Amino acid sequence: MKTKIIDITKQYDEALSEAARILKSGGLVAIPTETVYGLAANALDGEAVKKIYKAKGRPSDNPLIVHISNMEELGQLVDEIPEKVKIMAEKFWPGPLTMIMKKSGLIPDVTSGGLDTVAVRMPENKYARAIIKACGLPLAAPSANLSGSPSPTNAKYVYDDMNGRIPLIIDGGRSKIGVESTVITFADEIPAVLRPGAVTVEEIRNLIGEVRVDGAVLHKLKEGGKASSPGMKYKHYAPRADITILKGSLEKFIEYTKGKDFFALVFEGEEMYFENAVTYGKPLDGVSEANRLFDALRELDEKGAKKVYARCPEISGIGLAVYNRLIRSAGFKIIEL
Ligand code: TXA
Ligand code: MG
Repeated sequence: MKTKIIDITKQYDEALSEAARILKSGGLVAIPTETVYGLAANALDGEAVKKIYKAKGRPSDNPLIVHISNMEELGQLVDEIPEKVKIMAEKFWPGPLTMIMKKSGLIPDVTSGGLDTVAVRMPENKYARAIIKACGLPLAAPSANLSGSPSPTNAKYVYDDMNGRIPLIIDGGRSKIGVESTVITFADEIPAVLRPGAVTVEEIRNLIGEVRVDGAVLHKLKEGGKASSPGMKYKHYAPRADITILKGSLEKFIEYTKGKDFFALVFEGEEMYFENAVTYGKPLDGVSEANRLFDALRELDEKGAKKVYARCPEISGIGLAVYNRLIRSAGFKIIEL
């Protein structure tokens, strides 16, 4: 299959009509969103959704997020809209927030990975919304990377992973945020954050009160343990390079790595201390770190890095999302200095 790329910032009408044509006929289209690029298919068509799992090499029990462009579309996808979901949607939609609810009969089992719940997000990216509107369908879309790789923040990285596997990539420029949406479930009594993102736990607590943070956000799932979010049990965001996080000051980092053959994954301004370094954002600035992390991981591979030592981000606000992705990309290898 030949993979075509259309730049929607230059060929708006053609991009929309081609994307809508393919999506309506049960095909796959990679689309830009403000978090990361998504690999979209008609969420209500089980056969179309199966193609997503195949193209990504994704385990079939890992459910997908369904993307909508307005509130009216939510009602038909879920059994009931909880009051707290309405409050959250009012404040954070459209935006980098995914909410899980009991699903309606319209959602095929492949879309929800066999679960009785469905994850829904209304993206803010204007091109994503225009594509959803143009095809008139809710779109199931995981991140548009090969399963296990870092999520793509631009059309080139989608092409690197998906060339020959999908017919169309819509290029809408670089993703603004750079890490995937916050995932929160409302399927149980007390809402629980399953994956941190740009909508922070602190912001959510301020709005709706008690919220749990699932144990798998900060720690490795125990062998044989049950994952609240199936995605958490799989290898994730991993470059080919072998990453170890070094927790502690820059001075201790320099001391620990002295004489070793490695690439440093460090903050801007720190690269001068190392022979080989890739940076991911500014120190103590979670927004810029989130924006750079996945690109930095791909750049390490492009540079042929084998052994990587990484600086550890602050673990609050959006920094929790950065840390959550980094510990997975490092296979949970962390050394306290
Ligand atoms: O920002 C994003 O969320 C991007 C863009 C494209 O919207 N999408 C994305 O999708 O990151 P994906 O499939 O890579 O991650 C979805 C995560 C997975 O960890 C999955 O296990 C979890 O959400 N998830 C989806 N539906 C779920 C459900 N019903 N119950 C629990 N976890 C669910
Ligand atoms: Mg993903």
